[in-house]
Amino acid sequence: MQTETTTIDRYGVMGYPVSHSRSPVIHRLFALQTGQHMQYELLQVAPENLETAIRQFQRAGGKGLNITVPHKSEVTRLVDRLSERASMAGAVNTLTFKDGTILGENTDGIGLLRDLVVNLELNIEGSNILILGAGGATRGIIAPLLEMRPASLCIANRTIAKAQALAEHFGQLGPVAACRFSTVPMSDSYDLVINATSAGLRGDTPPYPAAAVSENTFCYDLSYGLNPTPFSVWAHEQGAARSVMGWGMLVEQAAESFQIWRGIRPDTAPVLKQLSISAL
Ligand code: ATR
Repeated sequence: MQTETTTIDRYGVMGYPVSHSRSPVIHRLFALQTGQHMQYELLQVAPENLETAIRQFQRAGGKGLNITVPHKSEVTRLVDRLSERASMAGAVNTLTFKDGTILGENTDGIGLLRDLVVNLELNIEGSNILILGAGGATRGIIAPLLEMRPASLCIANRTIAKAQALAEHFGQLGPVAACRFSTVPMSDSYDLVINATSAGLRGDTPPYPAAAVSENTFCYDLSYGLNPTPFSVWAHEQGAARSVMGWGMLVEQAAESFQIWRGIRPDTAPVLKQLSISAL
């Protein structure tokens, strides 16, 4: 007689530290909403154990992983195949294990775009964009933003060489410039200012360029919290038209990962609402 064994499809998020991650809650809500039978775990893995942990998860039959700070760039060398987006971004946030191979995707940029364009109804085409910061987070969002054909995109960073390197790398895709916070070009006012620095994580507010924000400027912080982030407070104080934290990007990038894994896109609106967003 044959006995039927039910195995539940395993997913998780790997980071260091990872205990603060909302991904398990978000994916559980998606699974509930779409009737998918799956589990999603928090996996704290130190950088020196990353490769071993991924291979173990794969050997144990795991189906997919989200990869978060600080592993997103390191993991690009552990995959068998990188999507074009991940390759452009130089970072992976979604792994899919299939037929013994590992596929690396990056859903951060598309997640941001979905939040800006679909949820917040911003028009990116023809707009002037300023990005603060030139680290991994910035690298992941430049190509998707340029695909929307903005009039200009300037990357401002404390260390100008990093902004210049990104401007050079992405220059073939559209109009990208680099500057310091103190030399942000002001020929046109900015429609969208995105904070992609990690300064707020330590509660810092660097000397962001106040003149870049007018009453028509939409400010978006890739960071998020239950309380307003330092950048969103700053943007509000400068009189920005709106100041929004990255909760929507978080939920949208998760929905893209979920779709890659399960072939179904969850409705993000009720999940966003349930995360008890506090925005200014
Ligand atoms: P992430 O992957 O989150 O982008 P990262 O690659 O370490 O992290 O990049 C952090 C970004 O935040 C960088 O642009 C960094 O500026 P530098 O390139 O000059 O280091 C920026 N950043 C972090 N703390 C900052 C601070 N206190 N003031 C200004 N910029 C800061």
